[in-house]
Amino acid sequence: MDASAQTISAALLDWYDAHARVLPWRSAPGAPPPDPYRVWLSEVMLQQTTVAAVGPYFDKFTRAWPTVEALAAADEGEVMAAWAGLGYYARARNLIACARAVAARGGTFPDTEAALRELPGLGAYTAAAVAAIAFDRPATVVDANVERVVARLNAIEEPLPAARKAIRARAEALTPPRRAGDFAQAMMDLGATVCTPRGPRCLLCPLTQWCAGRRAGAERFPVKPPKKAKPQRRGRAFWVERGGQVWLVRRAGRGMLGGMLALPDDGWSARGDGSAAPPLDGPWHPLGTVRHGFTHFDLDLQLMLYSGSDLARFAPNDGEWWDIARLDQAGLPTLFAKAAGLMLALRDETGESG
Ligand code: ADE
Repeated sequence: MDASAQTISAALLDWYDAHARVLPWRSAPGAPPPDPYRVWLSEVMLQQTTVAAVGPYFDKFTRAWPTVEALAAADEGEVMAAWAGLGYYARARNLIACARAVAARGGTFPDTEAALRELPGLGAYTAAAVAAIAFDRPATVVDANVERVVARLNAIEEPLPAARKAIRARAEALTPPRRAGDFAQAMMDLGATVCTPRGPRCLLCPLTQWCAGRRAGAERFPVKPPKKAKPQRRGRAFWVERGGQVWLVRRAGRGMLGGMLALPDDGWSARGDGSAAPPLDGPWHPLGTVRHGFTHFDLDLQLMLYSGSDLARFAPNDGEWWDIARLDQAGLPTLFAKAAGLMLALRDETGESG
């Protein structure tokens, strides 16, 4: 570590000692590391999701499953339902697989980045974060906040994603041999509260005197590639109701929203052409459309209501009738929760009780 890197990381750690956010999965700056289970769980949840959104989920999970063994022994459907709304459902499936592997080795997480990386479903980011935060290993953690701070500090002109290599190298050069976990979280806090995507508060920044980006206009970094328009897909979901219950299906394990309970649909996720047949022959009646943005496309999902009287013969083998009154406990992913919300709003308008 060269002298200026040392000065910069020391200044950042001093700032963290005074300004660290108090978060339920953290210990105070400089204090002994928190429980690795809580670190791991929070880091999995925090990928692609904000600290504010994760808070209640972290609370719910640690109450229901306070240890990795408890999570390993949990019913998979219950875990998926508890995850509903956080998105990127592959993370929840990986979470369960990883908990089971850790439980199988006696409930202790490995304490190095390399050994963590060998656990199922535990990627490079999580391995570095857990090694640094839970085990005080000098691992370099690069998330979007760190990426922004480092790109600005060094005024990296190369656009993302190509710039990631240079950003990582700079972040590694800054990572101190001790307190790497605090350092990583300090970078994250700086990115979240000071070096924000828009309107960075450079006057409050502890690194401002070393920041090449500030002189060039910090907000310009990291340089982004031109934005591609997101494709627009269309699909249909089907509402089949009987005696105050609605028909739900469990989505196939590995696909989009895999493992989650959902309304039956026309296969928009698999093919994008929405060609799969409704769960029973019509008549079907369009109720309205909900929109949802996924990472790689936007979806307009039309909700269709079965308005026939042929339910006696409806006996598919891969779903369940769910009480509409407790639909909020089904753990529907946000897309289907929106569709159900549309149905319930229409029902309220027309004064039906269901
Ligand atoms: N984002 C990802 N991990 C985080 C952490 N440990 N603290 C704050 N924000 C984060």
